[in-house]
Amino acid sequence: MLRFAAVLSVLLVPVLALAQAPAAPDAARERALVRMVRQDCGSCHGMRLTGGLGPALTREALAEFPLDSLTAVIFHGRPGTPMPPWKAMLSEPEARWIAVRLQQGFPEESAGVR
Ligand code: HEC
Repeated sequence: MLRFAAVLSVLLVPVLALAQAPAAPDAARERALVRMVRQDCGSCHGMRLTGGLGPALTREALAEFPLDSLTAVIFHGRPGTPMPPWKAMLSEPEARWIAVRLQQGFPEESAGVR
């Protein structure tokens, strides 16, 4: 019985660790991220994200990008270009959250996210 419990806990620990992995942003943080993308990213990528100093970040423009590379560009920036890293402002899951939303067509600040 004791051995069964030990085996069970060995199996459960990774599951619990996964459940505690960095969570997706909560609703308030999502609103802050939408605002940040519209304001800060928009200053280079255009207020409509249709391009400016930086390229368009519309659903159409980003459709072919692998999600991992989009996340990496947002998190680490693109060295040697004006695209700065955002890792001081964002967690990696948050960068991925932004990348997913950009590929879906980024929400407006006024729209409820989710
Ligand atoms: C200081 C200006 C600037 C800001 C602010 C900025 N970017 Fe960029 N970004 C650029 C430039 C310039 C490029 C193109 C880099 C290159 O030449 O490859 C770029 C590239 C990108 C790309 C790759 C797109 C492609 O077609 O290669 C993504 C995705 C991106 N930025 C997302 C963001 C997000 C999200 C934010 C805000 C969190 C942001 N950027 C803020 C200037 C900026």
